[in-house]
Amino acid sequence: MSPVNIGVLISGSGTNLQAIIDSVENGYINGKISIVISNKEDAYGLKRAEKHGIEALYLDRKLFKNEKEYNREIIDVMKSRNVELIVLAGYLRVLSSEFINEFHMRIINIHPSLIPSFSGKGYYGERVHNEVLSRGLKITGATVHFVDEGTDTGPIILQDFVRVEDNDDLNILKDKVLQIEHKILIEAIKLYSEDKLIIKHGKVSKGKVKR
Ligand code: GRF
Repeated sequence: MSPVNIGVLISGSGTNLQAIIDSVENGYINGKISIVISNKEDAYGLKRAEKHGIEALYLDRKLFKNEKEYNREIIDVMKSRNVELIVLAGYLRVLSSEFINEFHMRIINIHPSLIPSFSGKGYYGERVHNEVLSRGLKITGATVHFVDEGTDTGPIILQDFVRVEDNDDLNILKDKVLQIEHKILIEAIKLYSEDKLIIKHGKVSKGKVKR
């Protein structure tokens, strides 16, 4: 099977990106990361990509007239590199409907909660973990899902959980969830690369896709 051609969108430190890079390099994922694009110039993830010889591009949103044009540029860059699978790895901008249609069911996102809990507009990063702590939840986790026109509403691919201990603070919890994110994101990309994700009536199951 030919390696899946991956394009990654980031906005921050890129630990999820690093997990993908490591899994591609050690052969766990039969894939190739063709490009990493960030909307933030100082995103450390861009340096991670450069260190591994992966094209890293900062796209300054201020240089574009509007969201549609900005997304159009990302689409053009991804298509020019023959990217097949888009991974949102801590990417904090909303995708245009044109983008989502262009890569229908070929965009996956990692979210730091057990969707539908603490998901949707405004729920990202530390805000999620703070809610978990303030509500006294005993378990939380992460979700990988396909991206549709909603916010964190696309078909769920994988989830996993962690227990919240009484003495967990924001940093401890964030790290625990991040480990889970890395694990299920890699698994989801691997399943996708092996054509083992079947989408039926908006639900994802594992199995061999009959071409
Ligand atoms: C993390 O909060 C993660 O939950 C979310 O994006 C943030 C940054 O992750 N997916 P990363 O270290 O930049 O991959």
